[in-house]
Amino acid sequence: MRRKLAAGNWKMNGSRAALYELAKMAETLPEDPPEVLICPPAPYIAHAIEMVGPSIMIGAQDCHTAEKGAHTGDIATPMIADLGASHVIVGHSERRTDHGESDSDVRAKADAGLKAGLTSIICIGESEAQYDAGETINVLNAQLRGSVPDDIDPYRTVIAYEPIWAIGTGKTPTLDEIASAHAAIRTTLTDRFGDRADAIRLLYGGSVKPGNASDIFGIPEVDGALVGGASLKADDFVPIITALSES
Ligand code: PGA
Repeated sequence: MRRKLAAGNWKMNGSRAALYELAKMAETLPEDPPEVLICPPAPYIAHAIEMVGPSIMIGAQDCHTAEKGAHTGDIATPMIADLGASHVIVGHSERRTDHGESDSDVRAKADAGLKAGLTSIICIGESEAQYDAGETINVLNAQLRGSVPDDIDPYRTVIAYEPIWAIGTGKTPTLDEIASAHAAIRTTLTDRFGDRADAIRLLYGGSVKPGNASDIFGIPEVDGALVGGASLKADDFVPIITALSES
């Protein structure tokens, strides 16, 4: 059985004062919650950990591939682990687009996360043009081949399927489309990693809200969600966490 995961990506939003939302989330979690993760901006990781303790895990939104060195402004995975954070998101489409990250960059970052003892959440997803052209599954397979390291710990490897056109737009694929994408991802991972792939969790991301969460979590092979906008406020994120715990 894969443990469900509700992951929030705050992107470049929030403030020290906004960390209060984390305390509110921790206080209002459902009984027997799934794993809950928030990835705040890097300057707030340490404060966030102090604020919520173990009930909500804290992660980073990106990392460098190297353990240390002359890389001004970058953050190494051993530093993220040193703070007590547990996860790192790699290959988010905003990183791929804004910073030109390639599949091989993403693979190296995922590898760096795993080597530091973190769980690496590897994001993949098609553009609107690729979706319109019916290329979704081919794109996902190519990204999985390129972005997932060979030497994984399946328990600390998470794949987030995030159609780029669904991120922050209020648009989502149909439930059938999410189901077939997740089934295809599972098959591709099993072809490559055999039975070990059973432990890899698959998240859906892109405009997950309190109103659509239950339907999405009812899909087989959806082990949770990577949530952007709706993870900023406890009033939005806790209902999503609750929907996941009831799925
Ligand atoms: P969204 O973002 O929930 O605001 O659409 C999802 C993401 O980018 O992870």
